[in-house]
Amino acid sequence: MNEVKGTALITGASAGIGAIYADRLARQGHDLILVARTAAKLDQVAGAIREATGRNVDTLPADLSNPGDLRLIEARLINDRRITMLVNNAGIGAPVPTWQADVDQMETMIDINAIALARLTYAIAQRFAAAGQGTIINIASTVAIAPEFLLNGVYGATKAFVLALTASLQAELADKGVRIQVVLPGATATEFWDTSGVPLSGIPAEIVMSADAMVDAALAGLALGETVTIPALPDTEAWHAFEAARIAMVPNLSLTEPAARYRPVPVSA
Ligand SMILES: NC(=O)c1ccc[n+]([C@@H]2O[C@H](COP(=O)([O-])OP(=O)(O)OC[C@H]3O[C@@H](n4cnc5c(N)ncnc54)[C@H](OP(=O)(O)O)[C@@H]3O)[C@@H](O)[C@H]2O)c1
Repeated sequence: MNEVKGTALITGASAGIGAIYADRLARQGHDLILVARTAAKLDQVAGAIREATGRNVDTLPADLSNPGDLRLIEARLINDRRITMLVNNAGIGAPVPTWQADVDQMETMIDINAIALARLTYAIAQRFAAAGQGTIINIASTVAIAPEFLLNGVYGATKAFVLALTASLQAELADKGVRIQVVLPGATATEFWDTSGVPLSGIPAEIVMSADAMVDAALAGLALGETVTIPALPDTEAWHAFEAARIAMVPNLSLTEPAARYRPVPVSA
């Protein structure tokens, strides 16, 4: 058995990407707290990991769209000082174009993908900063920078939120010993697609990564010290060039005068 590395709390750990993070982090020496709605599936994942690794694995059934459940997870993050890692993985998609979607379902998606992720990050970040250590992994998506992939637009917006929030925290906590990684997976083979109403069989096989390969790559990116990991991107230089183009615009994004092309439209007599 490896040396115990502290406890990782993983949301959305009953299936897909979260269940693989649970397996890999236990094998690396972490004890686990697994969060999702379905207690029976959590128990199944927890039992298999206990059996394979001998780690302590707690389950915490909770619906992250329910404010009461969310507060319980926040309290656990604040009070359980064994927790050294948070993996904000739980997320849902939607099968319909943005403008045709049910607005209440969109609000639930924002609650899970953005609000819960932000509240859980707040709950742990202050304690990690005070302790001078701790790791947060936020699962976004490539749609955060490629809305052209034509998934639901609110889904893409929640993932852009995750990317922006993580980038801001990385800058603020850089000198406080807290590691924050954001992961941008492309299409990954999980139940997510069927649950979101877009069958995986309808996605070209050449753009779909296995969940095992995706999580192993993301953890390799963490070990390399990356703050942004895009598992499929062959050359990180492409990301750095993208960032450089954005940063080059910064000096011109806030000036006293509008750009010359925005001359006031003449008012006809
Ligand atoms: N699969 C992809 O192609 C892909 C690509 C890019 C990014 N991602 C992101 O990766 C993350 C994981 O996705 P996945 O593919 O592993 O999805 P998945 O297979 O559908 O698993 C989602 C997990 O989240 C849990 N969950 C869903 N709603 C919840 C809620 N209200 N409260 C608590 N837990 C909830 C589910 O368990 P219960 O149903 O039991 O609650 C399950 O454990 C998501 O953030 C997703 O946006 C996925």
